[in-house]
Amino acid sequence: MGREFMNIFDEWADSYNDAVSGQNIEYKEVFEHYEEILDEVASKAKGKTIEFGVGTGNLFDKLINYNLDVIGVEPNEKMLQIAKHRFPDEQILDGDLINFPKSDQIDSIVSSYTFHHLTDNEKQEAFELYYDVLSHQGQVIFADTIFQDEESHQKVIRDAEEKGYSNLAKDLLREYYTTIPKLEHIIKQAGFTVRFKQLNNFVWLIHARKL
Ligand SMILES: C[S@@+](CC[C@H](N)C(=O)[O-])C[C@H]1O[C@@H](n2cnc3c(N)ncnc32)[C@H](O)[C@@H]1O
Repeated sequence: MGREFMNIFDEWADSYNDAVSGQNIEYKEVFEHYEEILDEVASKAKGKTIEFGVGTGNLFDKLINYNLDVIGVEPNEKMLQIAKHRFPDEQILDGDLINFPKSDQIDSIVSSYTFHHLTDNEKQEAFELYYDVLSHQGQVIFADTIFQDEESHQKVIRDAEEKGYSNLAKDLLREYYTTIPKLEHIIKQAGFTVRFKQLNNFVWLIHARKL
């Protein structure tokens, strides 16, 4: 589910690592402090971990370096090939934020720059699923673009349009960027506590723990 953006990643896969290193001016602010953002997520994961939206494998690399038992899940064929080629000995599977190999032994669910590919209804469905598959005291650690309120979202779109960043503006309109109050409600309803921490002008850490 939430696989409607695959054509974008077909086009983006080969230049994705240039964008995260700041070489795509439109996305420079989105990826500001990229390495630190990935470290924030990886350093909090524990035990058996699932990463959604592995992409070119940059967060996956950090998770491996923390010696975590990690399964990667990636729905885009091109990204999947890149990640599998980079980590030939690791488990990286086709799947998505909702359709993934279920087991009840999972301690951490992580992702970076990925959760906004689900609608708010799908986000709710995902968190209900995560509650069931996570171990006692299991946690969800996501870094993603969210907004404090709808007005801030609209302002960021206007700013992007004024700067002539048409790709960024289109992306902000097309994908399912939500607000902190909405996401907080979804996560708490599913049985978690959650805290949010801002990591750059776009990205927040979303750290949810099972109650
Ligand atoms: C912006 S990239 C982020 C890649 C990597 N996590 C990083 O931080 O650099 C988003 C990734 O999420 C994947 N993706 C898109 N929709 C998804 C979904 N519904 N479930 C899981 N992954 C998804 C894309 O194919 C892509 O690899």
